[in-house]
Amino acid sequence: MRQVTLKEIYEHPIAEKFVRRSGMAHAISVSYHAFKLAKEYNVNPDWAVKAGFLHDIGHYDWYKRNGQWDYGKYKEFDIHPIKGAERAHKLLVRLGENKLAAKAIARAILFHTDSILPDGAYELDPLQKVVHLADEQGKLPGHSHHYVTWDRKKELRLIEELDQKIDSYIGRVKMN
Ligand SMILES: [Fe+2]
Ligand SMILES: [Fe+2]
Repeated sequence: MRQVTLKEIYEHPIAEKFVRRSGMAHAISVSYHAFKLAKEYNVNPDWAVKAGFLHDIGHYDWYKRNGQWDYGKYKEFDIHPIKGAERAHKLLVRLGENKLAAKAIARAILFHTDSILPDGAYELDPLQKVVHLADEQGKLPGHSHHYVTWDRKKELRLIEELDQKIDSYIGRVKMN
C-alpha cells in the first residue's frame, strides 16, 4: 500500500512551483522511463517514479548566455541535485511519505547527475541507476527538454495513468 500517490505530489504547490519551473513534461516523461526501468532493474517502481518526477525540483539558475545554455558555468556552479534532494525530501515527508522511501528517493535525486559528484569511481545503487538512466532517456538536444509544455489535462491524465500502473504492478509483485 502506497502512502503518497504521484497525483498528490503533482498537485502540491511546491511541485507546481519548482517542478513546473524545470519542466513538467520532462518530469512526467522521466517518471514513465523510471517506471519501465524499475521493472528491468527490479527496484520499487513507486520510489523510482517519485524520484523521476522530482529529480529536477532543485533547479534554481539556468546559467544562460545570450539565450543559450552556458555549460561551462553550469558545470562549475550547479548544485541542483543537492537542492533537489532536500526539497523533495521535505515535500515527501510533509505529504506523509514513509521515511525510508523519502530518504531513498532523496538520495536517488542527489546522485541523478554527475554535476556534484566527486571524480573517480563510485557505484550507484539500482534505484539511483534507474533514475539517472531515466533522466538520460528523457533528455533532448540543447537542454530543450526543460521547455517542452503539455496542457494540464494531458499532464493529469498521464499522472493518473501512471498511479494506476504502479498500483497494479505493486498488487502483482510484493515490494520491499
Ligand atoms: Fe537534473
Ligand atoms: Fe532532468
